[in-house]
Amino acid sequence: MIKETAQKLLNDAAKKLGLPENFSVVFSALPQLCDFQSNSVFAIAKQTQKNPLLLAEDVVNATAPSKWFSFSVAKPAFINISLTQEGLAELAAEVEKAGKAQPKQDKHIFIDYGGPNIGKAMHIGHMRSFNIGEAFKRLYRKLGYKVTSDIFLGDWGMPLGLIMALLEREGRLQDCMSGKERVSIELMNYAYPKASKLKEEDEAFKQRAMDLTLAFQQKKQPYYDFWKVLRKVSVDEIKKVCKGINVDFDLWNGESDASDYIQTVIDIFKEKGLAYISEGALVVDVAEEGEQIPIPKKSADEVQRYENPMPPLMLQKSNGGDLYATSDIATIYYRNKLYHPDIIHYFTDARQSQRFTQIFRACKKAGISPKEQQLWHTGFGTLNGKDGKALKTRNGGNVALVDLLNMLYEKAEQKLQQNGTEYDDELKRKIGNAALKFADLSNTVEKDYIFDLDRFTSFEGKTGPYIQYTACRIKSILAKAGEFENSFNFYSQEQKAVVIALAKLEASFPAAFVDKSMSGICSALYDVAKNFSTFYNQEHILSEPNLSKKSVKLTLAKLTLDAIARACDVLAIELPEKM
Ligand code: ARG
Repeated sequence: MIKETAQKLLNDAAKKLGLPENFSVVFSALPQLCDFQSNSVFAIAKQTQKNPLLLAEDVVNATAPSKWFSFSVAKPAFINISLTQEGLAELAAEVEKAGKAQPKQDKHIFIDYGGPNIGKAMHIGHMRSFNIGEAFKRLYRKLGYKVTSDIFLGDWGMPLGLIMALLEREGRLQDCMSGKERVSIELMNYAYPKASKLKEEDEAFKQRAMDLTLAFQQKKQPYYDFWKVLRKVSVDEIKKVCKGINVDFDLWNGESDASDYIQTVIDIFKEKGLAYISEGALVVDVAEEGEQIPIPKKSADEVQRYENPMPPLMLQKSNGGDLYATSDIATIYYRNKLYHPDIIHYFTDARQSQRFTQIFRACKKAGISPKEQQLWHTGFGTLNGKDGKALKTRNGGNVALVDLLNMLYEKAEQKLQQNGTEYDDELKRKIGNAALKFADLSNTVEKDYIFDLDRFTSFEGKTGPYIQYTACRIKSILAKAGEFENSFNFYSQEQKAVVIALAKLEASFPAAFVDKSMSGICSALYDVAKNFSTFYNQEHILSEPNLSKKSVKLTLAKLTLDAIARACDVLAIELPEKM
C-alpha cells in the first residue's frame, strides 16, 4: 500500500539516524501543498529532546530516493509528501485493486436492527434503524465478515391481543379465525388504533386484551393459530416496505422465538444466585464496582442506601409476566446456541442505551454471553422537525414510516418534473430513498438531525440525489465513449484530486468499522462526486482530440463510477440509469 510505503521510507530513515521508528502518514490536510503528510516529528522530537525542524530536515535528507514520492519539510516541522506521476498511477491502481478485492475475516457478526412491532404501524424510529443497520450489514460483508441479520420483530406483546379483543367485541373474531372473513393489513390497521384507544377508556376491554395476549403466549388454541395468521399478514406488509427501501434480513425472527427460552434463562440467573425478589419482581443487579454511590446515613442505625446510576434489571414482573429485557436475554441465549456469533451488534434509538447496558452486563454475569463475545449497541438520535423537536404528526403522534416515504417520493417527483426528466415510480422511489438514506447516514449516528425535505432531495450539494446524478452522468459518458484502453497516466491537478478522493473513499470503509458510523463514507463519497464534477467541467472528455489523454479521462471516469457504485452499495442507495 502506497501510504504504508511512504511510512516505511520515513521509518527506515529514522532507523538510519538512530531515532524511534514512530512515523505515521496521513492524507494531507492541505491538498494544494502535498498529497500526504506526517505529523510525527513533534512527538519524536519531544521524546528525543531534539529541535523539531532540524530533525524533520535530517529525516527527509535520509530518506531513500523513491519513484513514487518526494519529501519536503514545512514549518514548523511537518513532513510533506507529494506523489510523482508514477506514484499517482500506483495509487489509482490500488483503488482499482481494492474494488475487486474479496477480503475474508474469520469473525461472525450477528446484527439486530429494524425491530418493528407486529400490529402497529412502523414509524420513523424504525426507519433510522433500518437505514443504519442495513448499511452496517453491507459494510461488514464488504470487509469480509460473515454476517447474519435478524429483524427482531416485536411480535409477542399486547398489540395482537388488543386486535383480537376488538374483533371479538365487533363480533368478527370467530369469522376471522375460521377464515370466513379475510384478515388483511387494512383490517389490522383499522383494529389496532381503535383498540388501543378503547383500552384507555374501558377497563374490562383492557383486561380481555390482556387475557387474549396471555392465551396466545401460552400457545392456547385457537388463539395461537390466529396469532400466526395476524403475524403473517403483518410480516408480509413489513417485507413489502423493506423491499421498497432496499432492506433485507436473513432471519425474520422476533420476541416470540425467544419465548421458549425465557424460563431457561431465568433459571440460570436463579441457580447462579444472581436474581432476587425486590418489591415482588425478580431482579438482577448490574451496577459495576464504584457505580453504587452510598447515600450518607442520617443516623448510625439507618440501613445503608445507595444512589445507583445503573438500576437493577427486571427479569420478571410481580404478576409473573415476562419482560422485554428478558426476551432480549433469552434471544442472546438461543442465538449463541444456534449461531455462535463473535459479535452481536444492535441498532436502536439512543433512549434504549441504558437498557442494552443492563442486558449486556446481565448476560456476561450469568455466562449467557461468553467472555470473549462482544456485544455492541449503537444508539441513534431522533429525526426532528424544523422546530428542533421530534418529528410528529399534527395530532402529536409518531410519523408513520410509509407517510414519510411518500413525502420523499412526491418531492422527488416534483424535482424530476422541474427538470423535465422522464420518470416512472421506480425512479421516484430510488431518488426518494437515496435522499433519506444519505441524509440519515451522513450525520454522526448518535446526533439528532432535522428533517429538511427540500435539502435532502436537492440534486445539488451534499445529498443522495447529487451522488446518483453524478453516477448517471458518468454512465452516459461511458456509454457514448465505447471501448477504450485503460491508462493511468494522469497529468492534471483536477485528475489528481479525483484519484486522491477515490483513495480516501476506499480508506473510509475500514474507518467506518472503527468509528461505528457511516458519516465518513458519506463525506468521502461526496468529495469524490464533487471532485469529479470539477474535473469534468474543466476538461471535456468525449470531445478530447488527443487519444491518449482521452483514455486517461475515460479511465478516471470508470474508476469513479465503480467506486461510487461500491459505496452506494454499502449505503443501500440504488443507482438509476438516468435521471
Ligand atoms: N421493537 C422495539 C421497538 O419498537 C425495537 C427492538 C429493538 N431490538 C431489540 N433487540 N430489542 O422499540
